[in-house]
Amino acid sequence: MDNTRFISFEGIDFCGKSTQVRLLIDALHERGIHAHLLREPGGTEISEKVREILLNKSHQAMHPRAEILLYSAARAQLVHEKLLPMLASGEYIIADRFFDSTTAYQGFGRGLDLSFVNQLNHFATSGLVPHKTFLLSISPEEAARRRKSAGRANDRLESEHISFYRQIEQGYRQLAEDFSGRFITIPGAGSVENIAGEIKRQVFKIWNLE
Ligand code: TMP
Repeated sequence: MDNTRFISFEGIDFCGKSTQVRLLIDALHERGIHAHLLREPGGTEISEKVREILLNKSHQAMHPRAEILLYSAARAQLVHEKLLPMLASGEYIIADRFFDSTTAYQGFGRGLDLSFVNQLNHFATSGLVPHKTFLLSISPEEAARRRKSAGRANDRLESEHISFYRQIEQGYRQLAEDFSGRFITIPGAGSVENIAGEIKRQVFKIWNLE
């Protein structure tokens, strides 16, 4: 499967990823490119239902093993129902999270065995890997500040302690180093406009849109 038109975005909660993804979709639209936005967990009817189970704050009893299987189930459905058929018909796809989230959150964050996590990721995606992955990097302290000032109700994962996010951010940094040909790290602490400009420049270059 040609993955060239598939780009993912990653980062800890409150890194600004969802805002940036939206701005990128708009910039592409202006250039005449209609990219599909797929969010994880979610993006299909079944996967959105799994998302509700995963993020429901009352599900405090969820075991990390159940958690990783649910994220993987949502992803398997998204990949096979939508992503692979879309790529096969030449569509452009921007994913707001993909399997690197599972490696960072369930592998590094929850401490599940990394070789098992990699195997499960491969199984759920039938081996599909994004062509490029943008990592929006902010410190867990900055994320905690943003969380506080956002003033909105935290979901189940957003309510986790800062040490959980330190492990995840460290995991992302490790992934960016291990897969340096795929990852593009963008410091997420700058202004929204500057970050959007940098992402747009890079994506237009990747897809030869200049
Ligand atoms: P979102 O807030 O970016 O929509 O993501 C939902 C939450 O789920 C976020 O806290 C990250 C977490 N997550 C995982 O723990 N593992 C995964 O595989 C994915 C896709 C998300």
